[in-house]
Amino acid sequence: MTDGSGREIDYLRISLTDKCNLRCEYCMPKEGIRHLEHKEVLSLEEFVRIAGILSELGIKRVRLTGGEPLVKKGLTDLVRMLHHISPGLDICMTTNGSLLSGFAHGLKIAGLRSVNVSLDTLDPVTFKTITGSDDLKSVLDGIGSAVDEGFEVRLNSVILRGINEDDVIPLTEYASKTGVDLRFIELMPIGCGVRFEGIPSDELVKILEDRYGISQEVDSDSIGTGRGPAVYRRFAGYPGRIGFISPLSHGFCERCNRIRLTSAGFLKLCLEHPDGIDLKSSLRSGAGDDEIKEMIRQAILRKPAAHRFAAGGSAEDDRKMVQIGG
Ligand code: 5AD
Ligand code: SF4
Repeated sequence: MTDGSGREIDYLRISLTDKCNLRCEYCMPKEGIRHLEHKEVLSLEEFVRIAGILSELGIKRVRLTGGEPLVKKGLTDLVRMLHHISPGLDICMTTNGSLLSGFAHGLKIAGLRSVNVSLDTLDPVTFKTITGSDDLKSVLDGIGSAVDEGFEVRLNSVILRGINEDDVIPLTEYASKTGVDLRFIELMPIGCGVRFEGIPSDELVKILEDRYGISQEVDSDSIGTGRGPAVYRRFAGYPGRIGFISPLSHGFCERCNRIRLTSAGFLKLCLEHPDGIDLKSSLRSGAGDDEIKEMIRQAILRKPAAHRFAAGGSAEDDRKMVQIGG
């Protein structure tokens, strides 16, 4: 599928649930959100049907997100069903990791290939401040299980000024010790994110260069990272590579290859824009696959060319990150 700006769209993020077992300050409001009722959420079969249609339209990779995908009942079955209807589909998941150790083996067998785990700190007190939970150890166990199962594992970290700035080096050390990639993601002013100050990637690169020596961008073609938003760098005194996802400081919209399906069955064209289509209603009113395909093709053509964070973001869409799935 090619969008109206000539970009190839081959990546689908599915938010399976708006529920999460953690309460990260920059993602989830303290008072929680109004959760969707059971009937408002797509069934496993509906998720699979939409994913199947999209894979016929050219989607090659699916990432399961949330909320927290591991609190979704039937997650392992869903992975198995996705793998079954479209064996070539690359199935990935982004998780907070706290429930991962109990699921890792089953998910591997079901056909999941890759797991991104969010980890912003290695300090239990800071972990409690950010997530409201004492589960750091479960997260680290989850990462260990995922590595042991042979998943491709990547860590995602958001660094907040005055909160986990001191975690930058411990996180890179942990990643190299564990043998996994680490990516720093700039805080986006979405939902609760507006209340915090993130640290721009260039500032993180400086902190890392002070520790590990000069760095150089890695040619993205040479490392097979595809057309994702991360830019990787190698530092003279660091064994692995470190990724930077910089939606604010270095816009990457011209390389965007993705669309998003929310748990309510809304196909969102851009993380930051409200525009999209209500596939759940079409599905439930009996639309056939061809009709749905045509609706999707039309929608993709009007995918926004870029986000508007610099201009203050979108006021119209009050979905929180926990509802969109990042
Ligand atoms: N900006 C950037 N990343 C965010 N996440 C949640 N909210 C934001 C935000 N405002 C990240 C989490 C996790 C992933 C699911 O989304 O840190 O890595
Ligand atoms: Fe849950 Fe992830 Fe949001 Fe934290 S950032 S509250 S783990 S969805």
